[in-house]
Amino acid sequence: MKLLGAALAALLMMQGAVRAEDFSLSQACPPSFQKVDGLCQFRSLYQLYPSLEGQGVGGLKTGLPPIRDGFSPQQIDLGRYLFFDPLLSADGTVACASCHEPDKGFADGRGRAIGITGEPVKRSAPSLWNVGFLKRLFWDARADSLEAQMEGPLYDAMEMGNTREGLLAALNGNLNYRRLFATAFERPATNEITLAEIYLAIAGFESSLISLNSRYDYYAHGQADALSEEEIEGLNVFRSFVARCAECHTPPLFTNQQIAVIGTPEPEGMARDTGVAGPTGDPTLRGGFKVPSLRNVALTGPYMHSGRFKTLEEVGDFYTKGRGHAVPEGEELYLHWHIWEPQLRPEEVKSVAAFLQALTDESMKPETPAAVPSGLRVGARVLD
Ligand code: HEC
Ligand code: HEC
Repeated sequence: MKLLGAALAALLMMQGAVRAEDFSLSQACPPSFQKVDGLCQFRSLYQLYPSLEGQGVGGLKTGLPPIRDGFSPQQIDLGRYLFFDPLLSADGTVACASCHEPDKGFADGRGRAIGITGEPVKRSAPSLWNVGFLKRLFWDARADSLEAQMEGPLYDAMEMGNTREGLLAALNGNLNYRRLFATAFERPATNEITLAEIYLAIAGFESSLISLNSRYDYYAHGQADALSEEEIEGLNVFRSFVARCAECHTPPLFTNQQIAVIGTPEPEGMARDTGVAGPTGDPTLRGGFKVPSLRNVALTGPYMHSGRFKTLEEVGDFYTKGRGHAVPEGEELYLHWHIWEPQLRPEEVKSVAAFLQALTDESMKPETPAAVPSGLRVGARVLD
């Protein structure tokens, strides 16, 4: 009976509930963007500061790197539907949002992400907040654009398991999408949807995920009481030449976008992830990873490329225990020279963790659509 009910509900979802007129595309740019000649241009207080990008630690009033912007509101909104629609996977069960959940800092709360096979993949799903600023993507920095990155999960047998042909057939076979793409790209609905259009719309949505409005930002822009005493103490430790955190996790994005070998241990029983040495073949980058942004980091545990640490305090302990302490005997890693022996006191580790909480800002979180054009379950894949 229960099964019958579920089947009936699914049928109703497919047939009745989702009608073309239920879907229209926003004509307004997301917050942080201003519409200029129909396209969304990024606007932030940080743009008023002279950029010191690439010049050491920088101050709190350091400029941002350029962002991918210039998408139309309709393209961004179409990207939002695509992001939440499991139609993009081979069997209609996994959406981008399955592993990048808005309520989990656009990560998934797991050490290692789980895709279409139900088995954990090799690495942890990173947050997507502020991803439009990043020059290189993936933990091992192997993609240099959002478009190139997307081809990973879409066609990976363990993630969404699709093929280019399968993806195009699914979207072109859906009248809602035919109509929405026609609107977003200002062309007839009789044209076939192309991969370039799909990628562009999703890239537009990803680039709209801005988190630069945390209590830390208020402090950086001059509001001295936006942080508590403990958080200011944590910020000072974070920026100190003892802890050196800010030399890699450089404000305002809290990443210098470089690669560093820091000697993170792997989860119990897992072989060492070769990191950037994989795609580059450079043995000095064995175990090297892209420095992750720490924006919204309080929401995205467990931490590191394979989720080895559960809490921010555990991460703090890892750094304070000193250079190479977790590198197994016989393993040769070329550790970055900024990883040294900070020997932070427990209260300093605690204050850094407190400071990192002040980087939380979800005020511009996009709305999860109530339904997606395929009629499938929004953001599908409910595991537990
Ligand atoms: C099965 C879970 C899963 C799905 C589905 C998934 N991702 Fe991911 N995503 C991951 C994992 C895991 C990584 C890191 C992989 C790595 O570095 O090797 C990642 C990395 C990324 C990154 C790089 C972020 C950074 O800071 O380097 C972006 C951007 C991204 N995903 C966007 C998407 C989009 C867009 C989709 C849908 C087309 C998608 N993901 C679908 C798990 C997933
Ligand atoms: C030499 C550059 C460097 C320095 C210095 C550094 N980090 Fe990191 N940090 C990294 C890299 C690289 C990773 C990713 C490593 C991995 O996944 O194995 C990382 C990961 C993290 C993470 C996990 C983020 C996530 O999303 O999983 C946190 C939190 C963090 N660092 C905080 C700190 C703090 C606090 C300090 C100072 C005590 C610090 N870092 C110093 C390079 C650095």
